[in-house]
Amino acid sequence: MRIDILTVLPEMIEGFFDCSIMARAKKKGLAEIVIHNIRDYTTDKHHRTDDYPFGGCAGMVMKIEPIDNLITKLKSERHYDEVIFTTPDGEQWNQKMANTMSMCENLIILCGHFKGIDYRIREHLITKEVSIGDYVLTGGELAAAVMADSLVRIIPGVISDEQSALSDSFQDNLLAPPVYTRPAEYKGWRVPDVLLSGHEAKIRDWEFQQSLERTKRLRPDLLEGDGI
Ligand code: ADE
Repeated sequence: MRIDILTVLPEMIEGFFDCSIMARAKKKGLAEIVIHNIRDYTTDKHHRTDDYPFGGCAGMVMKIEPIDNLITKLKSERHYDEVIFTTPDGEQWNQKMANTMSMCENLIILCGHFKGIDYRIREHLITKEVSIGDYVLTGGELAAAVMADSLVRIIPGVISDEQSALSDSFQDNLLAPPVYTRPAEYKGWRVPDVLLSGHEAKIRDWEFQQSLERTKRLRPDLLEGDGI
């Protein structure tokens, strides 16, 4: 899978993709993350990526031209399944969307900024608008990193124990059960006896009951309706 991230602040997220699982996915050739600086696609001599809004409102608006130049160039090189725009008024990102999109070949994620982008970009170039939650960030870079992380980690082969991605919270509409490691007792705080019993069936049943109990208590909405 290839993800092209379009931003005016590449330095904000470059380091993130050079770490841990993202770096491993890149190294194994399972994910290619390409970060583009929108400023490199301006044609005016001041390399402006934003301008004053028509109508005299406050704030600046991202210009069409450099974004269109960049998206047009990318699309001439390969087919993209989606051109995503990160925005607080988009569809809310969740595990179901991550599962579906992780099967895509090529994605573009355009990071929004400041007051917004010229609406014609959204009308003519964007195929999907995504929010990572009901709060406003200063820009879409963190949203793009969150989305790319949740997509890449579920590509088969990225996490060595694939089972661990499948047993994440939110897969199967259930939160994950608690996990423990050695020592079995610390300051008198004990690991549940069943996990030390060696009885596989009892352990799986305990994990399921814990998942169910935690979901009912913490996220009852996941058990209602369609969920994830
Ligand atoms: N840009 C600003 N806030 C955002 C949010 N909550 N989700 C996605 N992009 C954003």
